[in-house]
Amino acid sequence: MNGLEQFRKKIQEYRRPTGKSQKDLAQAVGLHPNVLSNKLNASGSTLLTYPEIKRIIFVLVEWGAIREKAEVIELLSIIGRDAGIFTPEEWLNPPFDQLDRLPKTSPPDAPGGQYPPQPGAIKYKAEVNNTPDDITLIKPHLRHHADWERALDVSNFFGHSIDLDLLEDSITNKQARIILLLGMAGLGKTILASKLAKQAEKHFKHVIWRSLRASPRPGQLLNDLFELFEPNVAAYAHPPETLTEKLNWLISFLENNACLIVLDGYENILQAANRAGIYQAGFEGFGDLLTYFGQSHHQSCLIITSREKPNEIIALESNTPLMQTHVLAGLNYIEAQEFLKSQNLHGTQEEWNELVTQYSGNPLALKLGAWTIREVFGGNIPDFLHLNEPIFGDIKLMLDQQFRRLSPAEQEMMFWLASEKEPVALEKLEEYSKSTSSRLQLIETLESLFRRTFIEREGDRPLFKLQPILREYITKFYSN
Ligand SMILES: Nc1ncnc2c1ncn2[C@@H]1O[C@H](COP(=O)(O)OP(=O)(O)O)[C@@H](O)[C@H]1O
Ligand SMILES: [Mg+2]
Repeated sequence: MNGLEQFRKKIQEYRRPTGKSQKDLAQAVGLHPNVLSNKLNASGSTLLTYPEIKRIIFVLVEWGAIREKAEVIELLSIIGRDAGIFTPEEWLNPPFDQLDRLPKTSPPDAPGGQYPPQPGAIKYKAEVNNTPDDITLIKPHLRHHADWERALDVSNFFGHSIDLDLLEDSITNKQARIILLLGMAGLGKTILASKLAKQAEKHFKHVIWRSLRASPRPGQLLNDLFELFEPNVAAYAHPPETLTEKLNWLISFLENNACLIVLDGYENILQAANRAGIYQAGFEGFGDLLTYFGQSHHQSCLIITSREKPNEIIALESNTPLMQTHVLAGLNYIEAQEFLKSQNLHGTQEEWNELVTQYSGNPLALKLGAWTIREVFGGNIPDFLHLNEPIFGDIKLMLDQQFRRLSPAEQEMMFWLASEKEPVALEKLEEYSKSTSSRLQLIETLESLFRRTFIEREGDRPLFKLQPILREYITKFYSN
């Protein structure tokens, strides 16, 4: 049996006890049933793509058909992939956060498997934020794809109150058209976007949440919006067909209907191993969406969360004050200590501060670190610090994944910056790069790292440094 055959058999085994058909699976994956069938049987000319494999597994986990991480890994290995196909956040977020937390999957013919499973009573160690996955029309409830209250759980939201008020003011009084929430993984972009959308909800007729985790094509996203807003498609003599027609339709709809649209995880449609902000092939239409959104007159707002600043945003920023970038910072000492209050950690003020600095105040890293300190070190911060191993497990995974996205020139620059204790001057970087790149390339590389918020400038001078968490990571895992 070849890999694809085994994969097909396995997903059938998982699917059957749920009572769902292959047609249901196709629908959930976003493929025509015949197309899915052809792809699974290798009978057509197209093969299962990387996002489709992800999506199939995602749906099976969501249905509770797969309940163990080992089962996911096994499925992936059958089809020649590994756990890295899913990002660390995907592993941490629903539905994957339920893996290994529910009763084991029943054998196919055994009775008693409960579908769909009830989300477990055991909370994941990081109690990750729940966000809806597919397109979600939040308001009004024309088509209720997900429960906004449950899906966007911001009950534990902490801090950012000044940011939130400023951002809400930008949306409502200054009529910002695009707001970019920019920052590294784990800084809280998704939860801040959720909180902001909730806070600003009352000013809009429609609120839409769309995760880009499954990398929808731009045309598909616009089709989904069209279907949501124009449920009576049959009444449309000429539904928009080309991307430009779809964009024109969207803008004219937005002129008459105030919408708040959130696109979460914009980096998913950008290229890895290249300079920041460049689209993957086939996703360039998202750039047009930004340009249309930013340059047309309407009363709607687009919120984007991203780890990288897309090209169009830079152009728009210089043209219009209606485009805003908000760079997320880590928590400061006081906030971080308050954030981890319930974790029962103890240490002197100095030890607390050292812990927060090590993780650059990154809430996700702090939560993961705190869990280990509590479980393994009985809450004792100094014992943990003493080991001098802050980057491990899921924290390392999160950083690995981000590091792999850098271009070779960016990775090299990170090594140079990590090798110096003090901020590094431009002249010093020029010296390092003399044999490998021109001055122009050097500036481009620096600019790209800025777009990822990986480096900071010291004051007004061209002196550059890495965030402590990145410096620690590079020093530990990449220096000879
Ligand atoms: N301000 C905050 N209040 C409460 N939890 C937060 C906050 N910021 C981040 N977190 C938690 O940290 C984790 C990462 O946040 P998330 O929004 O997913 O980050 P990002 O989207 O930047 O990768 C989640 O578990 C989230 O609940
Ligand atoms: Mg996110």
